[in-house]
Amino acid sequence: MSETLTVTSARRLHGAVRVPSDKSITHRAYLFAAMAMPGVPSIIREPLTGEDCENTREILNEIGAEAEYFPAGTMGEVNMTVIQPPPHDFVSPEIALDCGNSGTTMRLLAGILAPVKGFRGTLVGDASLSRRPMKRVIEPLRTMGANIQGETAPLTINGSDLKGIEYTSPVASAQVKTCVLLAGLRASGETWIMEPTLSRDHTERMLDGLGVEVMHEGSRIGVVGGQKWGPLEITVPADISSAAFWMVAACCVPNSEIVLDQVGLNPTRTGVMDVLESANADISIGAMVSEAGEPTGTVFVRGGRDLKSFEIGGSLVPRLVDEIPVLAVLATQCQGKTVIRDAGELRVKESDRIKVVVDGLAAMGATIKETDDGMEVSGPTRLRGATIDAEGDHRIGMAFAIAGLIAGGTTTILNADSIATSYPNFTEDMKRLCGGRI
Ligand code: S3P
Repeated sequence: MSETLTVTSARRLHGAVRVPSDKSITHRAYLFAAMAMPGVPSIIREPLTGEDCENTREILNEIGAEAEYFPAGTMGEVNMTVIQPPPHDFVSPEIALDCGNSGTTMRLLAGILAPVKGFRGTLVGDASLSRRPMKRVIEPLRTMGANIQGETAPLTINGSDLKGIEYTSPVASAQVKTCVLLAGLRASGETWIMEPTLSRDHTERMLDGLGVEVMHEGSRIGVVGGQKWGPLEITVPADISSAAFWMVAACCVPNSEIVLDQVGLNPTRTGVMDVLESANADISIGAMVSEAGEPTGTVFVRGGRDLKSFEIGGSLVPRLVDEIPVLAVLATQCQGKTVIRDAGELRVKESDRIKVVVDGLAAMGATIKETDDGMEVSGPTRLRGATIDAEGDHRIGMAFAIAGLIAGGTTTILNADSIATSYPNFTEDMKRLCGGRI
């Protein structure tokens, strides 16, 4: 069912919020737990219950693992998912495996299932996922000997023996890197991957934490096939990509003062903080702790400073790739010309995020120009409310909700239900931070 979200300008944002848990880490925790040796179950505390990660969890139950979510108070004091790997190996499902909107689910599972001999199954997705490029994982997997039919979803996998490869990925993509490394863990010999610039490294950190040897040689990352690991126990930090929406909102609305608790601050994900600092935003980090190899800390943000334009390009892009829609909103409030380049990957996310962001912000009165691999934004501009279609893309829905908090008048987000993909209680948090009124 499609929902509409209506947002009016915020007077200030105030209060503390712990945004939902990290999507990338939850997916990996679920998958690595299901790939562990059978015996003791894995416990994943505070997993993301957004639709993307629920798709991963449900698929695991279709292929022989047991992955059950227990809300706080039913099994322990906090929300947790308990995962038992399949007794022998992943089994062929009776139905198509529905990845929904989740590229991470489809690309990582392709790497996990391609080396499972005797496995046969089909990965399907929604309209958006069915349009997204899968060749980037299928090509290296086929070179390893995988039997996969389809170039885009649906993908049918017939498990087979794989051999290790050395692969140079044309894109900096953690999904590609993870897919190849996970396939490599069940392939013969060594598997190496090299990417143009470093993408998020949760896979390397989490596998390392499980005792898997992950080799680093310059910028090459490798694994030796056949390694096994035991159960996983992890508390998932809050998702910096979700926290980014409130960071931008608080910077742009004067008199705001917010605290974001337990935010994952892995350096391969903190590009948004670097940009906010370079834009002269008032943002600081409290004491940091490490949870399962992932640095976590409290982030404080205050509004009211004069913001200045910024540049995004090169190796910064993978460190904030999901935050670009909301950073474009920030750019409309900054003095001068912001340039975002080298971000062509945005065109193959859940929507063509370059086009959708540029068209939507232009409709709200921004001075913004689309380029092949990014955009140029001149500011500051007083945005005005408009009707924006989230087009089934959660981050577009949320970025324009933040634009609506800054804009004059009323902003209406159509098809806002997609927000539940990564941030199920977004509207509640927005109401709370905005003092009950949006
Ligand atoms: C993700 C990696 C990123 C990101 C996506 C999650 C992951 O995609 O956009 O939301 O969990 O590995 P790419 O690695 O394809 O850039």
